[in-house]
Amino acid sequence: MSNNIHSIKHTLLQKADKEKLLKQRGIVLWMSGLSGSGKSTLARALENDLFERGHLTKLLDGDNLRTGLNNNLGFSEADRLENIRRAAEVAKLFVENGEIVICSFISPTNEIRTLAKSIIGEKDYFEIYINASFEECAKRDVKGLYKKALNGEIKNFTGLDAPFDAPQNPFVEIKTADEDFEISRNKLLNKVLEVIKL
Ligand code: ADX
Repeated sequence: MSNNIHSIKHTLLQKADKEKLLKQRGIVLWMSGLSGSGKSTLARALENDLFERGHLTKLLDGDNLRTGLNNNLGFSEADRLENIRRAAEVAKLFVENGEIVICSFISPTNEIRTLAKSIIGEKDYFEIYINASFEECAKRDVKGLYKKALNGEIKNFTGLDAPFDAPQNPFVEIKTADEDFEISRNKLLNKVLEVIKL
């Protein structure tokens, strides 16, 4: 880290100025859950629902970021931590711009989510737990990854030979196996609408 970096952040327009323009409070909705739990589907639905109501959003997704900014990272603990550090820094840029950032990352451990929260800032960080069990996700196996992981073809697979700590005190928890999709979608939307009011 260099001592020769002089941030000009304090001279720029502030978050509150952008929020006034956008008529919304900029926050990060951080979705955590196993692969195949339904994070991306709910994230996309939420983004559409907010867009229809005139809100400016940005969706950041693990699979997408891993094809670009994070394409040099794998699934070791250290790489996942770096994946989330970069994702959280990007989310912070958008949230400072007054946007509603929807982040969809497994973000499997308390340590990793604590890092994200500390980068974004506690007051702008809203955790959403997309809760579906390993067995349920393996049954769905939308991408065929569970089959491969169970055959030993993928190492460090979340929930199998890599940990997943359930979020302890989420802003919202959605149990995608127990609840109808439209019910989950509306429950999430209504909770979010409450906290993005200026
Ligand atoms: S995180 O753990 O670093 O937060 P991230 O959300 O970016 O993960 O990426 C998860 C996606 O990578 C999964 O949805 C899945 O498609 C893919 N993937 C590939 N290998 C693994 C693995 N070993 N464990 C979990 N997901 C994997």
